[in-house]
Amino acid sequence: MKKICYGMVGGGPDSFIGDAHRKALNIDGQAVLTAGCFSRTPEKCLQTGSELGVSSERCYESYAQMAQKEAAREDGIDFVVVVTPNVSHYPVCKAFLEAGIHVACDKPLCLEVGQAEELCALAEEKGLLFLVTYTYMGHVTAKHIREYIRQGKLGKIRTVMAEYPQGWLAYEGEWGGKQGAWRCDPKQAGGTNCLGDLGTHIENAVATMTGLKIKRVLAKMDVVVPGRVLDDNDMVMVEYEGGATGCYWASQIAIGHDNDLRVRIYGENGSIEWRQETCEKVTIIERDGTIIERHRGNGGIEPSAAAYGRLPSGHTEGWLESMANLYRSFITCLRAKQDGSFTKDMIDFPTVHEGADGIRFLHACLRSAANGCTWEEL
Ligand SMILES: NC(=O)c1ccc[n+]([C@@H]2O[C@H](COP(=O)([O-])OP(=O)(O)OC[C@H]3O[C@@H](n4cnc5c(N)ncnc54)[C@H](O)[C@@H]3O)[C@@H](O)[C@H]2O)c1
Repeated sequence: MKKICYGMVGGGPDSFIGDAHRKALNIDGQAVLTAGCFSRTPEKCLQTGSELGVSSERCYESYAQMAQKEAAREDGIDFVVVVTPNVSHYPVCKAFLEAGIHVACDKPLCLEVGQAEELCALAEEKGLLFLVTYTYMGHVTAKHIREYIRQGKLGKIRTVMAEYPQGWLAYEGEWGGKQGAWRCDPKQAGGTNCLGDLGTHIENAVATMTGLKIKRVLAKMDVVVPGRVLDDNDMVMVEYEGGATGCYWASQIAIGHDNDLRVRIYGENGSIEWRQETCEKVTIIERDGTIIERHRGNGGIEPSAAAYGRLPSGHTEGWLESMANLYRSFITCLRAKQDGSFTKDMIDFPTVHEGADGIRFLHACLRSAANGCTWEEL
């Protein structure tokens, strides 16, 4: 099968997530990296390009040049991966969409609601695929929960508790290195640090698993560590359409927690508990209190979710495989676009529309916090 060619914006020396995307894309071996603007510093861009086997002629000085030149090449990239700090997501994604190139962008989609809506409209108008890499929703167990709830097995959902605590920015004077520095800088992260970084994962996880739509939020966004400008600990009360309620907690000052995304969903027929750090299993509590633990790779996982597993049970799959699962569906759709067989129901990954939901959630929370914790409609 012909390899799909991709380019990357971001992911230069000492960066974090760009390398994870490359590794995840290598898992299925369907895509090859052929171009990049890995850094704003040309020497660093060339360094990463040469380490990864990208020809120097296709290591670009700017994303704008890359979009234009790649679109003009007969062997140009099929899609671009955008893994820069948040502030540049919008202009970079826009440039590639305008050039007619499919996009995969990390979360949060962008900074402003208007930008998000523009990207949605542009992707639709151009007929281009747009993946927003909410990594955790690629887990087999997350897909199992979505299907279980979709089939009505939990009954009507009553309430949701979801949290994503981390502890890496808990200390004054320590800024989490390169990654922490830009997240705490409003010029690069936008109006929120912690809620944008972690709260968007919570919002997307709950929306994906339950299908619930947020009606309104009440947010308390705190700056706990002295010297900081942006939030590092956030509590959000949520009311969904239909009357269910939720409570979200995102934190970077919770010492002892690494990437502890956890979702608990309570329905009229039982409950579900899921933690991304133990993502091979999901706990289901039935109406009479019976506790059932389902493990990826064993029976009892919904077939549509189990199909994403790669290894026999007990050979642990995790975060990279979860990212690879998003790309598996994205590349299947991309191939279908190329051979004319694409239909929208093939999409099984978070799109620009879910990315825009995340930005609407953030801005409703920002309005609420700025007004002294008022209820704000999305
Ligand atoms: N899905 C997830 O779970 C997850 C996890 C971590 C980070 N992220 C997201 O990924 C993005 C990047 O985060 P990170 O932690 O990898 O940051 P990072 O600071 O480690 O890396 C950013 C890279 O982008 C490069 N860069 C910056 N501006 C550029 C530009 N205009 N053109 C080309 N390159 C440019 C930098 O040189 C660097 O190499 C953020 O939006 C973040 O929210 C998502």
